[in-house]
Amino acid sequence: MRILFLGDVMGRAGRAAITGRLAGLRDDWRLDFVVVNGENATNGAGLSADHAKALLEAGADVITLGDHAFDQKDMLRFVEDEPRIIRPLNYSKAAPGRGARVFSAPGGRKVLVAQVLGQVFMKRPFDDPFSAIEPVLKAAPLGVQVNAALVDMHCEATSEKMAMGHWCDGRASIVVGTHTHVPTADAMILPRGTAYQSDAGMCGDYNSVIGMDKAEPLNRFITGMSKGRFTPAAGPATLSGLFVETDDATGRALRVTMVREGGVLQGSAP
Ligand SMILES: [Fe+2]
Ligand SMILES: [Fe+2]
Repeated sequence: MRILFLGDVMGRAGRAAITGRLAGLRDDWRLDFVVVNGENATNGAGLSADHAKALLEAGADVITLGDHAFDQKDMLRFVEDEPRIIRPLNYSKAAPGRGARVFSAPGGRKVLVAQVLGQVFMKRPFDDPFSAIEPVLKAAPLGVQVNAALVDMHCEATSEKMAMGHWCDGRASIVVGTHTHVPTADAMILPRGTAYQSDAGMCGDYNSVIGMDKAEPLNRFITGMSKGRFTPAAGPATLSGLFVETDDATGRALRVTMVREGGVLQGSAP
């Protein structure tokens, strides 16, 4: 299966890149399944129902969220109505929606998509992601129940992400990090066949501070004081993430390529 994962969509610039280019990439790269992280698509904070619909219409098969899952209050309801949205498994015991689900791909193939939040350097203490993902992977064995499985590991620390990659190695087709908004140069296939990248990067304007207009973040770092709000940077966005080709019979990754399309980052395509 030919799977594309795109990292955190950041504000209007990120949404415009998805709506403008994803359909073309689906054709050009003959994609079977596309997962997009949408946790910052609405003004950099959360995802509204309208913007979720726009990302799905533009060609995302599934949207994952993150620590900003419910910054837009209408998502509390919409996540229950729209099964193609996945919030972190370990967000909160009270959270609406689901942290994992099996989806249908062309040709009757099945794809598990799950998301977990890490614990290191995060603003809020979340439950242990390693024990959270365990029953989900056990219930959907690769090559038996599902043809492919993707785990979005949403957290700050590359150490925790790498540990999750190895924990899922051979049990997921793809473990990909999100949340830092900067792509890492470590896309690889782990020893038991899991495609891995510590962070997919964001779909946003990289002439920024992790997707926000530079002025206020610089001001806060330099003066230690807040002068205004953060606003998403509005320049041309780079679509950033990874492409993975998997073996339908075993669910293992055959090939992985980093994707960086448009905007100011150096390009990379499958
Ligand atoms: Fe994010
Ligand atoms: Fe995040």
